[in-house]
Amino acid sequence: MKILVTGGAGFIGGNFVQYMVNKYPEDTIVNLDLLTYAGNLETCKSIENKENYKFIQGDIADRKFIFDLFEKEKFDIVVNFAAESHVDRSIESPESFVRTNVNGTTTLLDACNTYGIKRYHQISTDEVYGDLPLDRLDLFFTEETPINPSSPYSSSKAAADLFVLAYHRTYGLPVTISRCSNNYGPYHFPEKLIPLIISRALADKNVPIYGDGKNVRDWLHVYDHCEAIDLIIRKGKVGEIYNIGGHNERSNLEVVKNILGILGKSESLIKYVEDRKGHDLRYAIDPTKIESELGWKPKYSFETGIKHTIEWYLNNEDWWKNIISGEYKKYLEKMYKNI
Ligand code: NAD
Ligand code: DAU
Repeated sequence: MKILVTGGAGFIGGNFVQYMVNKYPEDTIVNLDLLTYAGNLETCKSIENKENYKFIQGDIADRKFIFDLFEKEKFDIVVNFAAESHVDRSIESPESFVRTNVNGTTTLLDACNTYGIKRYHQISTDEVYGDLPLDRLDLFFTEETPINPSSPYSSSKAAADLFVLAYHRTYGLPVTISRCSNNYGPYHFPEKLIPLIISRALADKNVPIYGDGKNVRDWLHVYDHCEAIDLIIRKGKVGEIYNIGGHNERSNLEVVKNILGILGKSESLIKYVEDRKGHDLRYAIDPTKIESELGWKPKYSFETGIKHTIEWYLNNEDWWKNIISGEYKKYLEKMYKNI
């Protein structure tokens, strides 16, 4: 089979292409990525010379380019990771989120409709459900929870999901959607909470916590996410949505203190900063459907996964130090200038 993975030079897509190239030598994995600030070919270094792997630089929202590519390559499966993914950037500047996350998705869907496909899989997010209150620990996001996004980022992802479902109902396109909770693990771009804290704490810099640090995220190791997606594209039912999460809820303050503890750094590095606008309070996934229908179970507890992740950042300093010394440095200086 020929599988197109978009956004495969990013965090989750990069882990997924490595997983697929190594697990399925008989399949061809084509990685299409625009290489925005978040894309990094160093992430795919371990597979760049494999015979069943090919990288193409390009934009999922460029209609002519996408149609030419689909006509030439005749993909069997498309897995769409490509996105603008950072909530804080979407608050500053929503436009590129509409272009890539919405127009990019509909461009891919149109190409699938035109050239035919066995499966289109959309990588969505639990953020499309909005948030849950902090004092109702009995509540979880199920696939039936109404979508109710808060940020420009999550609104663009929710809009994309609606198009994916509409293309299934209207044109019979064989689609699936997965909505995963917060990922962590190797190759996570250091603008996101966990790698930001690790990289700043290692340099003995203050670590920023938005608001009071009580907001809760439901953390899943990226390798567990990759296995879930693999199962869904092979065994998931067409037209269905699958939530992915492993019941690893932690407040931001707990996560940060945990990382500082493992690194042997003082909690005095913690600096409370202005809260994120519209900051979602709590995310929590109910994974019953994927567990019972597809037999998926996460392998990593947060305790094991976070130690593994910290070790990876300690052993791969070149990967993230190159990022924080380049163009991204300007963003960091603007975001965290007063801490
Ligand atoms: P990322 O920002 O690390 O990677 C995104 C990749 O997409 C980058 O390599 C970038 O170059 C590429 N890209 C951006 N615009 C493009 C375009 N127009 N054409 C082609 N490529 C383009 O993101 P991530 O954290 O790996 O997230 C991947 C997907 O998973 C996203 O769709 C995101 O919404 C979803 N998701 C992420 C998380 C998480 O915790 N990170 C959780 C659930 C779902
Ligand atoms: O839930 C899935 C989502 O998880 C994905 O769809 C997004 O692409 C991904 O970026 C992530 O979104 P979050 O906004 O939850 O992740 P982030 O790492 O940006 O923030 C995690 C929490 O930490 C959030 O409550 C905000 C807080 N935070 C973040 C940063 C960057 C801080 O307190 N300080 C910070 O400096």
